[in-house]
Parts: sequence; structure tokens; C-alpha cells
Amino acid sequence: MTALPTTRLDRSAGDWPTLEDWIGARVIEIGVTDPKSDLCLTLQLSISESCGRLEIPAPWVFNSCLTTIDVETSGDVKADDFIGLEGAQLTAVESSSRGMDCQFGSITISVRLSDLSCRDDVELLVNHFYESVQADAVLGPVFNEVAQIDWSSHLPRMVDFWDTVMFRSGAYRGNPLSAHAKLLPHVEMSQALFDRWLTLFRRAVHHLFAGENAGHIVRCAEDMANVIHDKLAHLPR
Ligand code: HEM
Repeated sequence: MTALPTTRLDRSAGDWPTLEDWIGARVIEIGVTDPKSDLCLTLQLSISESCGRLEIPAPWVFNSCLTTIDVETSGDVKADDFIGLEGAQLTAVESSSRGMDCQFGSITISVRLSDLSCRDDVELLVNHFYESVQADAVLGPVFNEVAQIDWSSHLPRMVDFWDTVMFRSGAYRGNPLSAHAKLLPHVEMSQALFDRWLTLFRRAVHHLFAGENAGHIVRCAEDMANVIHDKLAHLPR
């Protein structure tokens, strides 16, 4: 691998590395500047092995090994779209020229996601998962309207729960079954509802992490969903 540049790269000065120079580098910061302008949209990747900064004009596509985030050249790209990709390792970078004054018309960056390895990762996952739950047409109303969840206490509780399941922190003490049983008079805790929950959970895990622990947390969720669903189905009404 060619040595990575050590200074900020200035495209106007023609100071570009070849794309392959970035393979193996780690993404340590992702920011999106000027999200309102199609032509000036810039994805910035700060790379750990150098203080170089690669600026890629839009449109571009960000592609990880397990999930694809397709970002068209619209004005609605947010840095949040890249949540969790910090620390990812670039494994391939490709570009295709589309003319105009953009050096690259589109760019595909393949990254290797890291595994879920600590409480901070659990927190990232929990926040990301419940954001998708709240936005979901099926599950959102169950949490927001039926249960009227206080998210400021629910999210830390769920971080404690998964931290205990995954890393045996012991921070969670509670009774998940009775928490869900309280919902029974108001909502049918159907297989379809649990399937939807699991779909969103798997999606959140695979969006952020890859590896043994990522697989393990999905299997734990699947097992627990089965247990909770079965026990709820057998509770006296
Ligand atoms: C249909 C799917 C699900 C729905 C609609 C759902 C909904 C909820 C709601 C509304 C609460 C808050 C209850 C309250 O504070 O009053 C809750 C708590 C909780 N849920 Fe779920 N849940 C589902 C599936 C799951 C699954 C599969 C798991 C485990 C893998 C799980 C783990 C928990 C835990 C640990 C709590 C906290 C319980 C406590 O307060 O100690 N949930 N859930």
C-alpha cells in the first residue's frame, strides 16, 4: 500500500491520492458539509493513519459489506446516515467519472464493520434500533401511543439490559415478561409484531456491526422474542 498523505488534501491544487491509497485506512470521523447543495455536497473521511482528509464530491454511494446506504445527490444527506461507520476499515474504493467539474462522479467505499465489543457499542445499537422503532408504522404507535414510553428512562434501561446479556455487567434488574404483559389489554402481542421487532433489530445490528458478538446478540433477541411471545400467549386472560 502506498504511504498515505500526511496533510489535508486540497482538490483544487490537484493534490489527490489514488483511491487505492485509502484501502486499509480506518475511518475516524465522518462529516457531511453543505447538505443543501447538490454540487457542493462533500463527504469527508478523516483517516487515522494520517491527518489527510479525503473530500468526495456528490453524488456518491456508501456501501458497507453488510448493508448499503444509497445516498443520491439530493439535499437530504445527514452525517447521521453514516452512524457507526467510524472505526470501519476501508476495503475497497471505486469511482466513476460523471463529468462536470467533479473529480469523481460517484464513489463506492466498502468498509469492514467492527464487532460489537463494549457498552458504548450497545448504546449506539439501542439508540439506533429505537429510532427505527419510533419511525416504524407498526411498532411506533405501540411504544409512543399505547405504552407512552418515557424514552429518557427506557433507553438507558435497554442499554443496561443488553449490556448484561452480552457482557454480563449485571446493570439490568427487571422482569421483561411483566413489562410486556402490561401491554396485553391494549395491543395484541402477535407473532407478526414480534417478527417486525426482530426485523428492525437485525437491521440495526447489521447496519452497525459485523462479527461473532453481532451474530450472538441477534440470536439472543430471537430466542427471547420466542420465549416472551410463548409466555404471553399462555398467560391467563
Ligand atoms: C412485539 C415486540 C415488542 C414490543 C411491542 C415491545 C414493547 C415494549 C414496551 C412498550 C416496553 C416498556 C414497558 C414499560 O416500561 O411499561 C418494553 C420493555 C422491555 N422490552 Fe420489549 N417489546 C417487544 C419485544 C421485546 C423483545 C423481543 C425483547 C428482548 C429481546 C424485549 C425486551 C424488553 C425489555 C428488557 C424491556 C424492559 C423491561 C423492564 O422495564 O425491566 N422486548 N418492551
